[in-house]
Parts: sequence; structure tokens; C-alpha cells
Amino acid sequence: MSKTEKNLREAFAGESQANRKYLAFAKKAEAEGFSQIARLFRAAAEAETVHAHSHLRELGGIRATKDNLAAAIAGETDEFKNMYPQMIAEAKDEGAKGALRSFSYANEVEKIHAALYQKALEDLGKNPATEYYVCQVCGNTVENEAPDECPICGAKKEMFKKVD
Ligand SMILES: [Fe+2]
Ligand SMILES: [Fe+2]
Repeated sequence: MSKTEKNLREAFAGESQANRKYLAFAKKAEAEGFSQIARLFRAAAEAETVHAHSHLRELGGIRATKDNLAAAIAGETDEFKNMYPQMIAEAKDEGAKGALRSFSYANEVEKIHAALYQKALEDLGKNPATEYYVCQVCGNTVENEAPDECPICGAKKEMFKKVD
């Protein structure tokens, strides 16, 4: 791997994290009544997305949808087969309850993502119109209608956000 490729990977990871961090900070600023600061965080987050996408593009990480679906399936599968199980075991060992819950929710949802992507790949070109709802507690991603209670975390229907 060239230095530049390594740097692009590092920069992509950093900018991606900054994007999510600033969006979280914006929500907090709104909750504290600092709406102007929230807007600033959202503006910077938007810019970090531009940077992240540019770095990813330069890495050759954005390909045809068929390939992108395959890459997404591989990523999600690695997360629920390898990454999260190990993290869950280590959180248990260390009695880190909050992290254990966070990892466990993500682990369950990555399985769902892998399955949804798999189905989408198999149907590519003839994908039926489908709406998606995401649980704002655990990230559970469901098709067409939010359940009365999230089967992963138990959150109520109102906690599901429809994705545009
Ligand atoms: Fe996922
Ligand atoms: Fe949930």
C-alpha cells in the first residue's frame, strides 16, 4: 500500500467520524437551546461528508451498485461474524454494560442489513418499491411498516424513523 493510499484510508475514517460526531453535537446543541451552534455543527458535518466522499472516491471505493452491494454485504458480514462477537466478549469480560448493549444492538442489526443487501442484490434491476423504518434506539431496520415494538430493543413504534 502506498503512503497516499494509507493516508486516504486514514483521512476517510477521520472525516467519516467527524461527520457523525458533529451531527451528534448538533443534536445536543439543539437540546441545549443553541440552535445557531447546531447549524454550525451541521454545516461542518456536511463539509466533512464532502471530504469523506472525495477521499473514498480517490481510493476507488465507489463502484457500480452491484459491486457496492457486494462490498456492503461483506462489510456487514464481517461485523456480525467477527468484529462484534469479539467486542461483545471483551465487553462482557470487562463488565462494560453500556458498551455491551451498544455492540449487541449493532451486531443484531448488521445481520439484518446483510440480509436486506443480499435480497436487494438478488433482485437488482427489479427491486420492488419498499419503504424503510429505522429504530432510533438500536438501529433496527425494517421494511414497509414500523412494528408496534422493536423486536431487538423493545422501543415503541414512535421511535422508528421513516427513511426518505
Ligand atoms: Fe449495518
Ligand atoms: Fe430498536
